[in-house]
Parts: sequence; C-alpha cells; structure tokens
Amino acid sequence: MNHIRYERRRYTNGQTPIEELKRLSEALGGPAIYIKRDDLLGLAAGGNKTRKLEYLVADALKQGADTLITCGAVQSNHCRLTLAAAVREGLRCQLVLSEPETGGYNPQASGNHLLFHLMGAEKLQIIPADGDMPAEMEKLAAALEKEGRKAYPIPVGGSSEVGTLGYMACAEEIEQQAWEMGIPFDYVVTATGSAGTQAGLLAGFAARQSSASVIGINVSRDRETQEKKVHELLLSTAELVGLKGEWPASLVRCEDEYVGPGYAIPTPEMVEAVKLLAQTEGILLDPVYTGKAMAGLIGLIRKGAFRKEDRVLFLHTGGAPALYTYADVFLAER
Ligand SMILES: Cc1ncc(COP(=O)(O)O)c(C=O)c1O
Repeated sequence: MNHIRYERRRYTNGQTPIEELKRLSEALGGPAIYIKRDDLLGLAAGGNKTRKLEYLVADALKQGADTLITCGAVQSNHCRLTLAAAVREGLRCQLVLSEPETGGYNPQASGNHLLFHLMGAEKLQIIPADGDMPAEMEKLAAALEKEGRKAYPIPVGGSSEVGTLGYMACAEEIEQQAWEMGIPFDYVVTATGSAGTQAGLLAGFAARQSSASVIGINVSRDRETQEKKVHELLLSTAELVGLKGEWPASLVRCEDEYVGPGYAIPTPEMVEAVKLLAQTEGILLDPVYTGKAMAGLIGLIRKGAFRKEDRVLFLHTGGAPALYTYADVFLAER
C-alpha cells in the first residue's frame, strides 16, 4: 500500500544501489555489512537531502513559491542541495548560514560554501553562531513578500513532516531491494542530526510492517534529546500521512558515544572510520556525518552489539564536499 499521497519531484533516476561491503566486514570480523548509496542521489554531489527536497520542492511549487529559503552551517550539505534543487527548477534561493564560531566566517571557505557561490545563491546571510536561524529566514521571506515575491522557507536539514516523507519513501525502496536481493536487513544504521532521515525510515518501515531496526548515530546532542526529537517527528509525520499504529518512544534508538567534543569536531574514531572505508572499499565518507556514523557502526560491532549472522545496512547519507575542508586532519594522521 502506498501511504505517501504527496506530490513529488524526481531528482534521481531509479533507485540508489545497495552494495555488500565484504572487505570491510572481513576487516572487522563482524556481521555482513551492506551500504545504501544515497551519496549517489541526484542533484549536485548527492546526499540525503535530495530525497527530502523531492517532496519539499513539490510543495513549494504547488504553493506558487519563486524562492527557496533555508539555513544551516557554513558547510551545510542541506543548503547546497536546496540551492541545486532551486537551480534545477528555475527558482531563486537565499541561505541563512550560521558561523562556526561568532566572527569565524571565512568568505574564502571551500567545500559546500564554494558551491553556494558556484551555483549562484541569491543571498548568503551570515549570522553569529548563536543567532536565530528561523527568525532570520522569516525576515528574508517578509522582505521578499514586500517585493511581490513568494518565498518557501525550509527548516534546518529539511526536517519538516513533508521533508521526512523522502525517507519514508526510502524505507519503501530498501524493502523492495531487500525483497529482490533476498536479503532481509536486521538493522539500518544512519547518522542522525535534524532527525528527518531516522524518523522517515522508522515511519516507512512501520508502514511496511518491516522488522528492520533503525539505529541513529548522533552527530550532536545527547541520546535522550535526540531520541525525543526523532520520536516527535515520527509522530507528526505519521499523523500527516494518516498512518495508524503504535509508536512507543522505545522504537527510537540513538547512540551518542560517537559525537566527541561536538558537532563537526573531528574524533580519532571518525578518522579511523573514514580511512577504513576508503582503504577497504574505495568509498568516501565525510567527517561530520557519515564518518561519525561509520565510527558508531564499527564501535557497535567491536562491542558485540550484532550477531555474526545479522545483516546490517549502513545508510551513506552523502556529505563528501566537506571532506576536502578537513585535509589537515587526514594528512596529520598519515
Ligand atoms: C551528509 C549528511 N548525513 C546525515 C545528515 C543527518 O540527517 P538528518 O538531518 O535528516 O538527521 C545530514 C544532515 O545535514 C547530512 O548532511
């Protein structure tokens, strides 16, 4: 049954591949590990926001918007992909970017920030690290309205209920692939930040009565705060699509041991994880999200959290452009 009766734009041809990571499994002596290549989704350099944007942009177009406004860190993957979707649709795009630390904005910054310029963001509004991003977006939307334009503000990470539908659809896609491959996945492991990816997967698997458990590896926040955030978004998304069922808080599992000192701050475990996947499978992770998520998967395997016969699917949510802004971290470790 299709629970998602929402309009959708399509930015990827077909499904993203699921690949077996035999060399990584062997190196870890762990369960069978597979990877869902959402880093290969459509729009500039791919990543998980592309799925959310398929629903968000369809909603924006339906509402007659001519400009997408969103917000995030100076290296935000979500801002890069929102801008790419706007370009693709002939819309304009304004970005509210919070400084890594107040006064620490580097106008020459590379990575995603370079791509904001390359793809022609109409405006980059830089605000202090503790600034109010939603309030700044509202100000930009009000200014556009005065000019007779219509903005569609998208919350941080695209994690509104509408954006979360993208990962409900992904859960459906995983179930279909698992069926075709004859491999039921016991666990899906993903980075969790603004919560839409994990909440959408949980809602989507529940809609399919799948037995796959979702483990979120935090990239910021403590376990309790993140689990509550995911749970609330799961409930409100299920309500949006009229999905009936029981949604106990115990359904949500987040691990906070791999965050380290804070968001986007490198950890030795992240460096090990990024190198290990690069050197066993030739697949690139990023230092902020997927590197820490893989560090979480490795940590859980080493702790004996999985049985040898389990099938574990790691969701590669993208983020590679940020890798090149951390060259010093990886070169220092040589
Ligand atoms: C590469 C990457 N992975 C994972 C995430 C986390 O996804 P979510 O914000 O839906 O929890 C993000 C969010 O910005 C991201 O950019």
